Amino acid sequence: MACVSCHGAAGNSTIVQNPKLAGQPAAYIAKQLADFKTPQRNNPVMSPIAKNLSEEEMMNIAAFLEKQTPKPGAARNKDTIEQGKKIFRAGIAEKSVPACASCHGADGGGIPVQFPRLAGQHQDYTVTALTNFRSGARNNSPQMTTIAKRMSDDEIKAVADYVAGLK
Ligand code: HEC
Ligand code: HEC
Repeated sequence: MACVSCHGAAGNSTIVQNPKLAGQPAAYIAKQLADFKTPQRNNPVMSPIAKNLSEEEMMNIAAFLEKQTPKPGAARNKDTIEQGKKIFRAGIAEKSVPACASCHGADGGGIPVQFPRLAGQHQDYTVTALTNFRSGARNNSPQMTTIAKRMSDDEIKAVADYVAGLK
């Protein structure tokens, strides 16, 4: 199945379960496609698709997606914006959760090559990503596993909603 059918034209998915890929660092995209072929990021939808891609195809798709312009999203929950902003900018000191901005950039735009973009991502996808890091269902980043294990459902939802509104 073509990537566009799920991730949207030029990587700007409009389906909240499917991540936006536009503007992600190419090295990050390529790493995820490689990880989907391993148990570290086993996913019923993406793993069979990734297994059909050659090394060269993965590199070409990643280079294309990095050049696409990400479409902005929006925060939806006024009640948790302040909490989400605080977690993003300062972390949660009493739980030793570091500021997300320290790795993902002050505006959530990501820092190539290592740190993916979070700004504008669908909140539902970001919640799933963090919940999967916490449970071990996604096990391709020791840093993110440590961080997610320290976060409650409410904290995950608040920061996911906040970053959806970052541009
Ligand atoms: C049937 C729908 C579907 C199709 C077709 C599809 N994807 Fe996905 N993709 C998903 C879903 C759902 C996820 C989220 C998986 C998860 O939760 O870990 C995803 C995740 C990804 C990610 C990880 C993004 C991130 O932020 O970590 C990449 C990269 C990706 N897809 C690339 C592709 C490429 C390239 C193609 C075409 C060759 C493709 N996908 C086709 C549904 C799809
Ligand atoms: C020490 C650096 C670091 C900090 C601090 C950090 N992250 Fe990450 N994060 C990463 C790295 C590295 C990855 C890429 C992991 C991979 O290769 O899959 C990542 C990936 C993610 C992803 C997956 C993105 C996607 O498209 O699938 C989410 C969501 C995320 N981080 C959210 C957060 C949040 C929220 C915080 C703050 C509570 C945070 N991160 C703090 C390093 C960090």
